[in-house]
Amino acid sequence: DMKEDTPLNQKSEQLKLDTTLNENEKLTTNQGLKINNNQDSLKSAERGPTLLEDFILREKITHFDHERIPERVVHARGSGAHGVFKLNKSLAKYTKARFLAEEGTETPVFVRFSTVAGSKGSTDMARDVRGFAIKFYTEEGNYDLVGNNMPVFFIQDAIKFPDLVHAVKPEPDNEMPQAASAHDTFWDFISLMPESMHMIMWLMSDRAIPRSFSRMEGFGVHSFKFINEEGKVHFVKFHFKPKLGVHSVAWDEAQRISGVDPDFHKRDLWESIEKGIFPEWDFGVQLIPEEDEDTFDFDLLDPTKIVPEELVPVELVGTLTLNRNPDNFFAETEQVAFHPGHLVPGIDFTNDPLLQGRLFSYTDTQLSRLGSPNFHEIPINRSINTVHNNQRDGHMRQQIVKGKVSYEPNSIGGGCPFQAMMKEGGFSSHEERISGTKIRERSKSFVDHYSQAKLFYNSQSTPEKIHLQNALIFELSKVTIPEIRERLVGQLVNIDKFLAWRVAEKIGVEVTELDFPNQSIPADGNRI
Ligand code: HEM
Repeated sequence: DMKEDTPLNQKSEQLKLDTTLNENEKLTTNQGLKINNNQDSLKSAERGPTLLEDFILREKITHFDHERIPERVVHARGSGAHGVFKLNKSLAKYTKARFLAEEGTETPVFVRFSTVAGSKGSTDMARDVRGFAIKFYTEEGNYDLVGNNMPVFFIQDAIKFPDLVHAVKPEPDNEMPQAASAHDTFWDFISLMPESMHMIMWLMSDRAIPRSFSRMEGFGVHSFKFINEEGKVHFVKFHFKPKLGVHSVAWDEAQRISGVDPDFHKRDLWESIEKGIFPEWDFGVQLIPEEDEDTFDFDLLDPTKIVPEELVPVELVGTLTLNRNPDNFFAETEQVAFHPGHLVPGIDFTNDPLLQGRLFSYTDTQLSRLGSPNFHEIPINRSINTVHNNQRDGHMRQQIVKGKVSYEPNSIGGGCPFQAMMKEGGFSSHEERISGTKIRERSKSFVDHYSQAKLFYNSQSTPEKIHLQNALIFELSKVTIPEIRERLVGQLVNIDKFLAWRVAEKIGVEVTELDFPNQSIPADGNRI
């Protein structure tokens, strides 16, 4: 039902060139030779040993032996879908990105949802953050928005990411637990990381057990930059708000669903698209003029903070619709490679020290996950505009580039592409004045770890608060080391005393300093 010649169609048309259907075809080897017996190997006698010369057997087994690639080091379990991003309100005042300029512009997208901690075969319904990664195939190149369903993150600096992931992933001695955060190493790390407390409130809330992908929000998390034609800069936070509203399941439902159908979210996404019930989100931005950077009581570069919507409202400017299932999970959902540094002119990153580390990590991991520097040539990763540069060779090179010159400067021409001026669409990094002392230290503007954790906890309705308390009680009751439970309760005191007291009482931590002596727990879960 998509029209043939729209730019929107360009990505699916491009993918079709690499898509085959084996129906009604004869079986062949990888060399195209027709195979007339796929049931028996070639043997030296009817009951004799198999011959090494059986190239048909060898090819089949060899290929099978190499079918697996490493799963993603995080976000291993994913579900993907194709769709369209439609701009309803121009952002040309703020950014020169062409796909955000003209109302009505439609851009093809591929979206991958994921859990973070579990392995590829783990349950959809784990208590976890969900990845919400979008590849926009724009006419100026691929733009990736690699976000999550929660607006903040556990840590403020990329150098803590391997520690965080080693704490949350299965423990190295026994590879347990599969996909849950309920274990010693995770809570040990968290109890020692006050900066994680805001994220922990989100993770213990119902947001961590969404009912479906189509009923959860998406966030870019970091502050990014918009740059317009005149070079004027706005900080921007990205939001996706589900048209169906935000819905979660209750914890007992989550556990039951995990047992009955671990593919619950994947199946829901697939089936709703098959039925033509297309998941949709409003796309919104929070815009902050560069000169207002210092007007908040938190740092815009700190990824553990939101910009409250009361201070800067979210302007809804576009719609994201998922309308086509992938044809092949591995070729598309597994091989897609997102990267927060895949930018287009008019969008830039900031000095957020978490984001800065991500800019290194994604390509690096994809080199090992996909095995070659040519993974941009995999159909799902290809931009809709053609690629022209002097990079060449490498494992699995697909493109056949003509000409003898692959260096610049040169006086021969010989097929060599030359750099584009800014007015020709050449990307130029936003020129920002930096001066200071090289220093390995956390910015003092990053120190308030509790105000927004409180803000989030207090924003919860009473039933939501009870769910959050119970989540902490469940999680911490799995922790075997008493000191870890105590330290965590110590953190909670800074967020809400009643929360700390309720959790402490249920997990056997004594908290004499909390002034709730001999009180029974009120049924509504609120402070008395
Ligand atoms: C995936 C690193 C923080 C969202 C990944 C992957 C790595 C990684 C190595 C696997 C990529 C692949 O194999 O293709 C990091 C580092 C971080 C960080 C080093 C911090 C320093 C974040 C944050 C967010 C995020 C803050 C959310 C805003 C995602 C998503 C994926 C992902 C959605 C899955 C992408 C997909 O579906 O293929 N990350 N990450 N990450 N990350 Fe991060």
